[in-house]
Amino acid sequence: MNRLDILCSYLDKCETFADVGCDHGYCTLYMLKNGLCGQAYISDISEKCLSKAEMLLRDFIAEGKVVSECCDGLGKIPYDCGQVLIAGMGGEEIIRILENSFVPERFVFQPMKNARQLREFLLSRGAEITYDGVFRCGDKFYFVIKGGRVGYKSVYSEAELEFGKDLKSADTKAYIENELVKKRSYSERKMSAEHRAELTAQIAFIKRVLENET
Ligand SMILES: C[S@@+](CC[C@H](N)C(=O)[O-])C[C@H]1O[C@@H](n2cnc3c(N)ncnc32)[C@H](O)[C@@H]1O
Repeated sequence: MNRLDILCSYLDKCETFADVGCDHGYCTLYMLKNGLCGQAYISDISEKCLSKAEMLLRDFIAEGKVVSECCDGLGKIPYDCGQVLIAGMGGEEIIRILENSFVPERFVFQPMKNARQLREFLLSRGAEITYDGVFRCGDKFYFVIKGGRVGYKSVYSEAELEFGKDLKSADTKAYIENELVKKRSYSERKMSAEHRAELTAQIAFIKRVLENET
């Protein structure tokens, strides 16, 4: 399975779905073909990217089931849209989008980096996080953060803020081990004493997480 097939398996049934930064539009096609939503929004900041999704979904657009919007983030997505997917962007860009608009009713985020900042942002907004884990696709790892605008506010440990809530899963463990290998190899480079102390502390922390000591 490729990244998008796995990512789609995290999407839930809803009335209205929005794929923000949709590019190819594959996730919206998955939702409609599987009867998982009645209406969908596809949006992208780039007209060129959006046109790929418009081509893929042309029959659904003609039927009135898909609305296409060229906009920044959630700019033209209704506040009451049932489920919003934002995938394949950096965590900082996802935060910027949410800061400029709103936290969706239900969301699935797949940040390519800075997942910790995104978690901290969502928690600071009182959002509920119902799933926060890692999946592996080939030699790459991806975070998926699911939840909603309101609900039970999760409590995170330092290790969970860094690596997600699914610390015991095989894919998360493989991700953390991979991070340890990267940091160890990085520590062989020349660097300032301050930087080395920081890196040594990070390595010690990762080892404690792997040994369940956090
Ligand atoms: C790497 S692609 C990811 C496409 C798809 N979501 C996926 O996961 O495969 C990122 C897409 O997000 C779009 N994008 C980047 N920043 C955006 C923003 N602020 N608002 C809407 N779309 C954005 C880009 O134009 C691009 O099509």
